[in-house]
Amino acid sequence: MPRGRGAPAGAETVGGLVARAAAFLRSRGVGEAAANAEFIMADVLGTGRCEVRLDGGRPLGSARRLRFRRLVRDRARRRPLAYVLGHQDFMGFRMEVGPAVLTPRPETEELVGEARRRLAAMDRRPRRRPASPSRRRGLAGGAPRRVLEIGTGSGCIAVALAKLAAAWKVTAFDISARALAVAARNARRHGVAGRVRLVKGDLFRLWGGRGRVRRPGRGFDLVISNPPYVPSRRIPRLAAEVRCEPRLALDGGEDGLDAVRAIVAGAPASLAAGGLLMMEIGHDQGAAVKSLLEGGGFGSVEVLKDMQGFDRIAVGKLA
Ligand SMILES: C[S@@+](CC[C@H](N)C(=O)[O-])C[C@H]1O[C@@H](n2cnc3c(N)ncnc32)[C@H](O)[C@@H]1O
Repeated sequence: MPRGRGAPAGAETVGGLVARAAAFLRSRGVGEAAANAEFIMADVLGTGRCEVRLDGGRPLGSARRLRFRRLVRDRARRRPLAYVLGHQDFMGFRMEVGPAVLTPRPETEELVGEARRRLAAMDRRPRRRPASPSRRRGLAGGAPRRVLEIGTGSGCIAVALAKLAAAWKVTAFDISARALAVAARNARRHGVAGRVRLVKGDLFRLWGGRGRVRRPGRGFDLVISNPPYVPSRRIPRLAAEVRCEPRLALDGGEDGLDAVRAIVAGAPASLAAGGLLMMEIGHDQGAAVKSLLEGGGFGSVEVLKDMQGFDRIAVGKLA
């Protein structure tokens, strides 16, 4: 972003800096440039975006000006806003985010919201063995639910689920040690490290015979995943920001369904009877994933749409 030397009066105010940053970002092809400039200023001020608008006439001290310019220049290189700021809000929880992990998406918040509703509904159904008072800490007084997440990345799904119900226990896998380090920091930051077990593992080998996630007697109530689901050939055409994200987090193989197929094939070994498999999927993968689930022994298969009306969440119930 060009310096303010010779800039008109008012240019070094919050409003002036935001307006110039927005024009600069727009010139570099950044989408929603004004919103990006406001989010960056909000981070610099330690306030919300609303206050940035209300405080437009406020002058900005030199240290903050320097930081604002540095972040704007970084964003102008088309680095994702969450990487530039180092964090992203997810389900109301602030998650550390960086180049080792996918930026948590609003669609994934919908997956977590749906999972939470369904686990809470399970809690409301009577169990064969009544929960003892010490175990009545689930959403609606049921026994603790056990969740297995495949491909945890920043840990956003695992941490949010653990935060949303005080007794749910989550085991979360990822193949990336760097991602798991971020997830561990997020679990600690939100005080759920004791209920989120992070494990390094390859989803294509988890169920490969050694049964490391098989739980004889009592399986998981929910297997949840936002797997890599972008078909390989589409990756070069993704926005510059998305191409900054780890290829491991995006690339789902030729038709985008490599990881989905492995999860559908393996999850029954980890699920309790009546347990749910829930996955985020690509907008054009609904029919294919529905038939994979039906062919894989799942019943009550549904494909739910996201807020934009696209197929996004696949759900199957183990009979
Ligand atoms: C789409 S990202 C999802 C991250 C996070 N759960 C979220 O929703 O934002 C997919 C994650 O799967 C992980 N992953 C990719 N291939 C994997 C594999 N073979 N085994 C385990 N995890 C894998 C990636 O490292 C990445 O963190």
